[in-house]
Amino acid sequence: MFKTVDRFLIRWCSRSLIGSRLYYTFFSNAFAAQQQAVLKGRATFNTPETIGRLHSSANLRRNIHRLEKGLAMKGRREVFAASYIQQTVREYKEYAAAGFETAERLWAQEVLDTYFEAVSHSDPVAQAFALYRTVLRTEAGHRTFSFNPQCAPYAFEVIRDAEVSFEDFQQLCEKRRSVRWFLPRSVPDEAVQKLVSTALLAPSACNRQPFRFICARERAAAVAACAAGTTGYVHQLPAVLVVAGDYANYGHERDKNLIYIDASLAAMQLMLAAPTLGLASCPINWAEDPAAESRIRKLIDLKDSERIIMLIALGYPEPGGMIPYSQKKQAAQVLTYADD
Ligand SMILES: Cc1cc2nc3c(=O)[nH]c(=O)nc-3n(C[C@H](O)[C@H](O)[C@H](O)COP(=O)(O)O)c2cc1C
Repeated sequence: MFKTVDRFLIRWCSRSLIGSRLYYTFFSNAFAAQQQAVLKGRATFNTPETIGRLHSSANLRRNIHRLEKGLAMKGRREVFAASYIQQTVREYKEYAAAGFETAERLWAQEVLDTYFEAVSHSDPVAQAFALYRTVLRTEAGHRTFSFNPQCAPYAFEVIRDAEVSFEDFQQLCEKRRSVRWFLPRSVPDEAVQKLVSTALLAPSACNRQPFRFICARERAAAVAACAAGTTGYVHQLPAVLVVAGDYANYGHERDKNLIYIDASLAAMQLMLAAPTLGLASCPINWAEDPAAESRIRKLIDLKDSERIIMLIALGYPEPGGMIPYSQKKQAAQVLTYADD
């Protein structure tokens, strides 16, 4: 009876935007947890609380990235970023005042230096520059401009060629399979750190990198058991990474999908890199389930604005352990051309 009514409601409500809003307000709370996390994120977006804990400012990262994109633009305008340069300098000032000596700060400094060198100084750029100069005077050794910046835009050809053929890369992709049977051998810190460094080379929207990895080894089985899809093999997992995205990186709901996109791109890189260290991985689905959420939150420390994107099992593969064939679709099934 309930299912029949629900099916009717779904049909009726899915016909319009207002209908779907009614459905998710009165008949289903499936999006409630995500909505609360998005709001929690907005409440702490760019606050000293978040910045202090992470030594990272999401909005400074975003704005510095917008500046570096402007600097790398062909046919660059004499003045750009006028609408947000003052805010960016104010954000940099707060970051510098907190004393964070990070790679993020050096990047921000050098991009700002390069920007002020490059643009012509009429208001509001002139006002922003005046504020920037007062900040420079408060910095260690009355910092002056970086004339040999390492973190400013540079030519693509400077990057060393990757000596990887298409065939090599294809082989790596074939070696990356979802592996569920592992040797009883622990995964060293060094390997986990290397994999995470590779993950951090992935692209992310406005370079915000709104995710983190929580590595469980002694608690791997307990953590992975919170997810539904690990029955039968969970007991022998040497390590599990919880991939979590943080809505505190965003001030707008329009960005609500980015934690999933950015974290997944990074996770993919990590999983592809694993075989190069003799390791194997298996992504594990994190379904929306309040009971599972409450179990895992007892085992790992997550903020209210953080959402779990997925778990990744990690370990040295058991050579004789079986893996499913998992047939892949053919390119012709998923590729069409917009110009035809
Ligand atoms: C988002 C995501 C969630 C997944 N969840 C699970 C899971 O809960 N349990 C599991 O055993 N495998 C899981 N997998 C692995 C898939 O079953 C596997 O990727 C797919 O069958 C293709 O096989 P392959 O990874 O070996 O190419 C998941 C994969 C992805 C990408």
